[in-house]
Amino acid sequence: MPQTAVYPGSFDPPTLGHLDIVERASHLFDSLIVAVGENSAKQSYLSVQDRIEALRECTLDNPAIQVEAFSGLLVDFVRSKSSRVVVRGLRAVSDFEYEARVAMANRRLAPEIETVFLFTRDEFSFLSSSVVREVAELGGDFSGFVPEAVKRIIERSRGAGRA
Ligand code: PNS
Repeated sequence: MPQTAVYPGSFDPPTLGHLDIVERASHLFDSLIVAVGENSAKQSYLSVQDRIEALRECTLDNPAIQVEAFSGLLVDFVRSKSSRVVVRGLRAVSDFEYEARVAMANRRLAPEIETVFLFTRDEFSFLSSSVVREVAELGGDFSGFVPEAVKRIIERSRGAGRA
């Protein structure tokens, strides 16, 4: 049976580290859904639409990758896609504790769903969306941290005077 995996995240904004995980996961599964979490309680940097547009542009060349928004429980979204696999990226040991707690909570909620962890390339181990946001907001050069499409969408969105 073809195996679909779900790679969830805030992707606010997507980084080269995220895209590295997308590529790795796309080699392991028949299809991949990149699921952009909508968290209305959290003030976002880029809108969900901008994040989806950026991720779609970055994955255009691979028809096995889809990008969608989700809200509510991740396991409900994964089940709604008839998937049993959640992919998460790990950069360093410091990510482990949080990721283990979330994976165990998700397993309690949906025992049939496995969380699979993939390590990012070591050159991206320092990289996070918050680093990109801070460098961008302080006028630094963040072009080495994000794909070109993301850079353009950040500049368009922030230039347009979003908060
Ligand atoms: O990239 P992030 O910010 O670490 O992504 C977090 C995300 C969106 C994957 C996570 O917050 C999530 O799964 N949210 C959905 C709510 C949920 O299912 N919570 C239960 C697990 S504790």
